[in-house]
Amino acid sequence: MYTKKRYSYFATNIFGIAFLILVVSTIGFRGTQTPFDPVAIFLTWQTDPTTSMTIDWHTTPQDGDRGRVLQYKKIGDANWLEIQEKAVDRIAFPYSDRTINRVEIRGLDPGTKYRFRFGDNSRAYYFKTMPASLENETIRFAKGGDTRHREDWMSETNRAVMEYEPDFILWAGDLAYANGEPYRVDRWYSWFNSIKETLITENGRVIPIINTIGNHELYGVRRLYRAGHPHQAETEEEARKYLRENNLWEDKATYFFHLFAFPGNPPYGVLDFADYMSIIALDSNHFTTVRGAQAAWLEEILAERSGRKHLFPAYHRPAYPSVRNIMGGHSIDIREAWVPFFEKHGVRIAFEAHDHAYKRTPPMSGLNVVDENEGIVYVGDGAWGVNTRSMVHLVPPERIHQYDFDLDSGDVIYVHEFGGYIVRDRSLPEDYLYESSVEDIPYLEAFAAKRHGVIVDIHSNGGELTTVTSDGKVIDNYSWSLN
Ligand SMILES: [Fe+2]
Repeated sequence: MYTKKRYSYFATNIFGIAFLILVVSTIGFRGTQTPFDPVAIFLTWQTDPTTSMTIDWHTTPQDGDRGRVLQYKKIGDANWLEIQEKAVDRIAFPYSDRTINRVEIRGLDPGTKYRFRFGDNSRAYYFKTMPASLENETIRFAKGGDTRHREDWMSETNRAVMEYEPDFILWAGDLAYANGEPYRVDRWYSWFNSIKETLITENGRVIPIINTIGNHELYGVRRLYRAGHPHQAETEEEARKYLRENNLWEDKATYFFHLFAFPGNPPYGVLDFADYMSIIALDSNHFTTVRGAQAAWLEEILAERSGRKHLFPAYHRPAYPSVRNIMGGHSIDIREAWVPFFEKHGVRIAFEAHDHAYKRTPPMSGLNVVDENEGIVYVGDGAWGVNTRSMVHLVPPERIHQYDFDLDSGDVIYVHEFGGYIVRDRSLPEDYLYESSVEDIPYLEAFAAKRHGVIVDIHSNGGELTTVTSDGKVIDNYSWSLN
């Protein structure tokens, strides 16, 4: 009996010790578990960048219940503040098993560094709010567009631009070239991967990004006619049926609206940096028309900010294109519906994209080149991470009389003359192609078929542009001063 009892006591002890070892090893394992680090982090703004930050981080099913909260604190503070799970917006990443977790923090201090992380055992990063004024500060941002034909090209320009330590990046559309297509979701993964690998500094500063919408953010019915499309349609009706059945027509900028908190739907909006700078994101005939409600909104928000030192419209399709026809319908729309408001309310620089080249215009007023400080300089044309294009479809001025103005033939000639310019579209026969240069085109002052980013320095009395190619060469400079 005694022996048995002893045995039983011993056995209990053995199980107890084994249980303890299990508990200890589990705790130990948890303690050394790799810190959580989300597959993607994306910072942007929906309200004043001097006092707010919108933080997105993406989670996958493999993350389980990790990464559900956001903790942040001013660098130097002891205690973390926590935004709990129920206060985090969880948005389904379209056509993916990923989740977008989104938090907007307001009421932050201007010009201040904040550390943030996604729970107790998580890698920590930091961001910096923009300064309250430009009195003793400058802001530096990088502008571009047309970001990812290839991830390595996008990353290369990201790295070149990061050498200049920008406070944020402004991209004017055509981001991942997913075209709103479910089967191209990988392009978005790659786009966010490039950001995570190259737009976060070594010590963990995450660079916020402001996006505008471009044509490649949308699902367009015409894409279904293209050879090689997995759902290639023979007729327009067939294409529309496919879109309807897959809910693609009604919500045709699906990725853009879910992946980015700003500008939202409709895809235009304004970000006011206190009272010294406003960035106006516009939609150049993609989801919303240039004319109509958007133009009315633009007139109103510019009137409210008239005379503000730094007003920067940013949009995808150029009003003054470097590579394509300046008499193209979209360009005319912008010059007629927006440019008069830009000019009336003191815009000095407007940012464009879409043409896959670098361009800078002289100061323009309508279609006229004007004196410094009297017009608007248009900077584009979107070649951050894409194949570049040359100016090959402009007609040499001496050949104007060889053409007839024939809009009705429909297949060959469209030549237009205005203010000493000769322009043409792509449908002209190949022997009329002419590789043009900046000298031939009064509305261009700088041009390069190069991948690049534009570094923009803003101070209280003006600003300066420095254009840097993906391989780190400075190819253009421009500065302006405020009266
Ligand atoms: Fe484009």
